[in-house]
Amino acid sequence: MTQDTPTPTCLADYESLAKQALTPQTWAYIQSGAADQHTFARNQQAFADIQLSPRHLCTMQGGNTALDLLGTKLDYPILIAPVAYQKLAHPDGEQASVLAASAMRAAMVVSTLSSISLEDIARTSSTPLWFQLYLQGNRPDSLGLIRRAEDAGYRALVITVDAALNGCRNAEQRAGFVLPSHISAVNLNGRALPAQGLSVPAGASLFQSSALAALHDWRDIEWAVAQTRLPVLIKGIMSPHDARRAIQAGAAGIIVSNHGGRVLDTTPATIDVLPTITDITGDIPVLLDGGIRRGTDVLKALALGARAVLLGRPIIHGLAVNGPSGVAHILHILRTEFEMAMMQCGCRSLADIDKAVIWAAASQHPGSDF
Ligand SMILES: Cc1cc2nc3c(=O)[nH]c(=O)nc-3n(C[C@H](O)[C@H](O)[C@H](O)COP(=O)(O)O)c2cc1C
Repeated sequence: MTQDTPTPTCLADYESLAKQALTPQTWAYIQSGAADQHTFARNQQAFADIQLSPRHLCTMQGGNTALDLLGTKLDYPILIAPVAYQKLAHPDGEQASVLAASAMRAAMVVSTLSSISLEDIARTSSTPLWFQLYLQGNRPDSLGLIRRAEDAGYRALVITVDAALNGCRNAEQRAGFVLPSHISAVNLNGRALPAQGLSVPAGASLFQSSALAALHDWRDIEWAVAQTRLPVLIKGIMSPHDARRAIQAGAAGIIVSNHGGRVLDTTPATIDVLPTITDITGDIPVLLDGGIRRGTDVLKALALGARAVLLGRPIIHGLAVNGPSGVAHILHILRTEFEMAMMQCGCRSLADIDKAVIWAAASQHPGSDF
């Protein structure tokens, strides 16, 4: 940031500044959703459509937002989502993000497609790290990544299941984005993901592609869970059906996510789907990402049953605008907004947050508090 740049006050300010800081190609890669970007827009709009019910004159002293998530102790329920190739936004890439996460005591989920090795990120970190695994084309390669994450001290595995095929990312295609040659998926030593970026010759069917043989199924999740002592979360769940399958396969946690609207367009927003998942998951922790831009969004997600949320693009905006300080500021802003919203809705701890913070017509709460 230059001296003339106005100090960003909220995540949307960072978004505008990041757009100015990045090339149009990189911006299109980071920002865009799939196809017509309906899901991308809906993720945020759905939060705005939910109204809160303030509650005043409640004692707030001694409150806190601490939680234990599958053995990972957190001061507040906001994690950094796995985002590939962070060197696109800043020369220090994931090293800068993990420095910020460490300073802010936030947990970070490191992508399989990180542009710095998972071991180097872990060496820089003094905060809990989880590793996001894209299952590889063969089990020995997947197992290699699992063992590396375990050896480097990662505390959980997040297996992403919704991006086996790239979405139709037309905005990115129009902008002509290509990954610069100095940035790569260093954890994979140049290997490509099994079925991403499939090209289909004219007149052929995608169903005939030989790469489809590398797509995974629920037996691969069962296999992965059986290979590790780490808790496994499944990321990309958008239906009660898949939530049940994930639990049957041994998942310790579920992340309701539509990949920030980057894969399949016209799915519902994650916050719209969340209650249908938490209805059937019992004690299994459910996290959510997609469209979180305000502390009030965090409060709404927790009120509807999420144990924590993850932040994707806003972290990259902070990184692009001001490196580690930008990422730390993003986390600070969101945490403070969240705590403010909690207090304004009468919540002194996470245990106080429930559906009562969501406004509903008085008829839906007959007799309560009157
Ligand atoms: C540029 C970009 C790269 C991403 N890379 C990954 C990835 O490598 N692995 C993964 O599981 N999710 C990835 N995601 C999805 C995020 O983890 C997360 O689900 C999404 O960004 C949340 O929505 P939000 O950006 O509105 O916060 C990526 C998202 C973006 C924007």
